[in-house]
Amino acid sequence: MNQDAMKKAVAEAAIALIKPDLDAKTIIGVGTGSTANFFIDALAKLKMDFDGAVASSEETARRLQHHGIPVYDLNNVADLEVYVDGADEANEHLELIKGGGAALTREKIVAAVARRFICIADQSKRVSQLGAFPVPVEVIPMARSHVARQIVKLGGDPEYREGVVTDNGNVILDIYNMNLANPIEIEREMNQIVGVVANGIFAQRPADILLLGSSEGVTTLR
Ligand code: A5P
Repeated sequence: MNQDAMKKAVAEAAIALIKPDLDAKTIIGVGTGSTANFFIDALAKLKMDFDGAVASSEETARRLQHHGIPVYDLNNVADLEVYVDGADEANEHLELIKGGGAALTREKIVAAVARRFICIADQSKRVSQLGAFPVPVEVIPMARSHVARQIVKLGGDPEYREGVVTDNGNVILDIYNMNLANPIEIEREMNQIVGVVANGIFAQRPADILLLGSSEGVTTLR
């Protein structure tokens, strides 16, 4: 099974998990990235069984709309049953690094609101300790240098992701060599830096379920 086949398998496993709970009022939170795209394409086949979706990026909103799935503003949604999204890294506690696609802030917001967060990923994303993948941090443009200096004090090596502007009009710093032995603490510390909008460590709100695809099939971690 190649990587795309694994991503498709976990996307379909997520569909199988959420399908029994769908009804005409259900609104689903949908993530961003290549694995989430497989989920969107599978979800489109069920579009008569639920109400619509909240998108974690403009790209995801466009893909949902292309399939004819109504996209809601999160502010108008009283109850978000589930959020389904990929990850760049996942550990055994279902703590994640996300934001390789620069959508981390909206992803974090939708994950915070959703009652259940189902993470879908191929086995290459599974790690024993987070941090080999650089931690994306969304930053207000004028604070870029200030934030970079503060992150150096925390032990990280920030690199400006040139040419990338987020859906919120901000920039991304990718933080290399950060010691993430205690991800909750580093997530909190980075959030304290003035100018940081959000960081890509999902430890305060980890996933509830991780569906991991390998050539042997899909494994469920809770
Ligand atoms: C988007 O900003 C990210 O958080 C994605 O969820 C993450 O990069 C995973 O993407 P893939 O599914 O494309 O690997």
